[in-house]
Amino acid sequence: MAFDLFSAKGTPLEQQRFTWRDMVGKPISKLDDDAFTRVRIILMNGIETEALRFQHMAQRMSRELRQSLARTRRTEQHQATMVNWLIGPDHSPLETTIAYEQVAIEVTAAVAQTEPDPYIAQTYRFGLLEDFDHLYRYAALLDRMEGKDANNILQSYTDILPGRPTVEEHRSPIDDMREPYDCRKAAPITKLHALTIAGSEYQTHDYYMNIGPLFADPVARQLYAEIASIEEQHVTQYGSLLDPQETLLEQWLLHEATEVYNYYSCVEQETNPRVKAIWERFLDYELGHFHHVAELFKQHEKRDPAELFPGTLPEPIRFASQRDFVRQVLAQEVDLRANGTQFVSQSQESQASIDYRAQINADGSPSETVAAGYIWTPGTELNRKVTVAV
Ligand SMILES: [Fe+2]
Ligand SMILES: [Fe+2]
Ligand SMILES: [Fe+2]
Repeated sequence: MAFDLFSAKGTPLEQQRFTWRDMVGKPISKLDDDAFTRVRIILMNGIETEALRFQHMAQRMSRELRQSLARTRRTEQHQATMVNWLIGPDHSPLETTIAYEQVAIEVTAAVAQTEPDPYIAQTYRFGLLEDFDHLYRYAALLDRMEGKDANNILQSYTDILPGRPTVEEHRSPIDDMREPYDCRKAAPITKLHALTIAGSEYQTHDYYMNIGPLFADPVARQLYAEIASIEEQHVTQYGSLLDPQETLLEQWLLHEATEVYNYYSCVEQETNPRVKAIWERFLDYELGHFHHVAELFKQHEKRDPAELFPGTLPEPIRFASQRDFVRQVLAQEVDLRANGTQFVSQSQESQASIDYRAQINADGSPSETVAAGYIWTPGTELNRKVTVAV
């Protein structure tokens, strides 16, 4: 069904209301809800926290937009709460980590396949092979520390295998830079994709930074420190896809459009009726934001928002297992490396990255230690050993 951003008016900002009780509802079930319901929840929390982060930065750069920013930000805050509190306490922080990596793999893979710009699609494929390896390392940690099978979270939608080895993902900051899209020429979907993945990676980074220190196990503490550093690289990579020539208001409008587009994608595919009702409500709230900012855009910039978004929203992001695509990318591109903004073969990697990696890994590699000899086995590694002994 085609969705028109301009004809759907949504809920006006002044009618976007919450109470503590409705904001903090019943969480989803870890095992009974479909894994893609959790994928959508984590993704939308990433989108909401990106909206909040951006609007705080914007306040520091614009006096005249401050009141509008403060008003929309209050809704973003409560949306983020309502969404993120759907994750229940039955998820251990490490199990939630597994789910975060599933989001990074499946959503980035879906986006990579519909991205019209070939260089930017390549960037998504490059990043997803790294998150794919994080999943394998964290699955080993979950198995070996908590005695749990990561596939209970993944529900067989996502493979647990090595990707581009995390130990090799450490690069010079200069090699995490990418060429931005051109805001005057890029397709609307390219802009929506870039903000979606940048927001999603940012929250993954922040999540690891917050929970890493909570672990007692020294390898777990080091592993979170190591993978948080790669997530910082990913935020640098995806953030550099955004065109710095976009004005502040243009960027804000794009953020609201990204929220609309993602909630629309969730509404179209949600299987849990209670969660679907939240997506529908927030789709309307985001349309309210979009129209509010579109008015500001017209007033302050004397430009027509339709120049950025002609016609209807693109097809929704596909929330489904992208296993075959991921396997194909793994087989063909695992050996790619980065040199400046370009993707190159292993032999052409920059000396700066080789040197950086040698230094940061000088005292050993947590991601190698945690997964030494690890092969994912249904029902945990212990189960495999017992079977062999019998
Ligand atoms: Fe929002
Ligand atoms: Fe990542
Ligand atoms: Fe918003």
